[in-house]
Amino acid sequence: MENANISDIEIVKGKKGRFEPAPPAEVTVEAKKKVLFVASEAAPFISTGGLAEVIGSLSKALARSDTFDVRVILPLYLDIRKEYRKDFRYLGNLYVPLAWRNQYCGIFEYKADGVTYYFADNEYYFKRPGCYGYYDDGERFAFFSRAVMEIMGFLGFYPDILHCHDWQAALAAIYLKTIYCLRPEYQHIRAVFTIHNIEYQGQYSLDILEDLFGLPQRVKNLVEYDNCINLMKGAIECSEAVTTVSPSYAEEIKQPFFAHGLDPIVRRNAFKLTGILNGIDPDFYDPAQDSSLFANYTAGHPENKAVCKAELQKMFGLPQKPDTPVVAMVSRLVAGKGLDLVKECIEQALKEDMQFIVLGTGESAYENYFTDLANRYQGKVVAVISFNSDLSRKIYSGADLFLMPSRSEPCGLAQMIASRYGAVALVRETGGLKDSIAPYGAGGNGFTFRDYNAGDLFYVIREALSLYRTDKKAWKKLVKKAMETDFTWSTSSGYYEELYLGLVK
Ligand code: GLC
Repeated sequence: MENANISDIEIVKGKKGRFEPAPPAEVTVEAKKKVLFVASEAAPFISTGGLAEVIGSLSKALARSDTFDVRVILPLYLDIRKEYRKDFRYLGNLYVPLAWRNQYCGIFEYKADGVTYYFADNEYYFKRPGCYGYYDDGERFAFFSRAVMEIMGFLGFYPDILHCHDWQAALAAIYLKTIYCLRPEYQHIRAVFTIHNIEYQGQYSLDILEDLFGLPQRVKNLVEYDNCINLMKGAIECSEAVTTVSPSYAEEIKQPFFAHGLDPIVRRNAFKLTGILNGIDPDFYDPAQDSSLFANYTAGHPENKAVCKAELQKMFGLPQKPDTPVVAMVSRLVAGKGLDLVKECIEQALKEDMQFIVLGTGESAYENYFTDLANRYQGKVVAVISFNSDLSRKIYSGADLFLMPSRSEPCGLAQMIASRYGAVALVRETGGLKDSIAPYGAGGNGFTFRDYNAGDLFYVIREALSLYRTDKKAWKKLVKKAMETDFTWSTSSGYYEELYLGLVK
């Protein structure tokens, strides 16, 4: 078995035994606290949204601090990007016991930016397009979670912190605390569970507890909720700490309106719940360097943002008017994103001098609605029903105002990216939107409204458009403020460090 990590540590110990001074770098490796992220996606390998970005950027930020040996484990999906895959190193394979099954699992490794990534390979479960949406997703992620437990033994890597993200990784925390905790090597491991979105809980029929998830009847109470298996509930109960992705959302999910049925469980576990605001990777989202943009610019020298706007208008066949505000949305087109409010007030808003660009995919009712709106308001409204990262960056850089009126938003990253590219964010005060965007009237970096209704959204759109039109100097100042807001991980990764160190003390 190839195992770079173990042999490194043995070499250091051997040298110590012979009273030879150990090289400082290797001593540091041994002294570092070990963190293993378990997640179903991570940028840059595979991404369907915010979860992947957070796994990619938070692990990098933590690794930079030198306190932690950070590793991430993911399923080896078919769609893992080829340019990375070709450099994966095969470490070996093992068989994963899952109820009555014994399934092959190959293990690959890749290192970048101080983070070690592992990929669990099983073609039956993961050689399929995309990440989710299969009838056997429960079994696929049960296999993955159970493989994580076995791979730790294979690598001889027993982390101090096992940090599991969302329901797909919930079973890793559950297996750890109900089955593997009986083995001495696993007993010191502390489990942290992060809720990125409480809407998706991993709910299954109780019949498959033993047969599919391989969980003994004695743990039924831990994972049972509302007469079903609820994997998120199980992970909340099992983990020593639970986090979610903004302080406001941590409060909100104690209430029925936001918790999708789990509020009693959240309230009961509130003593171990913290909300830590996500960050974005400032190098990845940098208008000064982004090669997707028509031109680059900075907060200090934003002149080229006008070029980005003119080129964007040209690309979409909109009149190239520098003084007409471009209002944009880049969003999944689903109800939770506040699209019913947009629907109710956008035509009223379109009576003003503005252009409106929507990019996203989602529910067909919304896709059709925006396509129809664009047909009816040609030269004023553009709807691109697809998702394309390159195009999204062109939109962020060319837009003046960015709408995000979500009904609920655990954190949201688009408002941060938009702000960094100088598109002033207009958000509803909920979850991470409330924690990252403060109202202009109170000296903040964007526009906000509180109550979920179309009248309030319309009012604040008009407020923003009126400032844009009537006070160019104030608008420029606001753009600068938005661009200069610190959305990096610098503060938030410190909170995770504190949490981890508190748990392993
Ligand atoms: C989920 C949430 C989103 C959050 C992201 C990363 O996608 O819906 O608000 O930003 O996870 O934590």
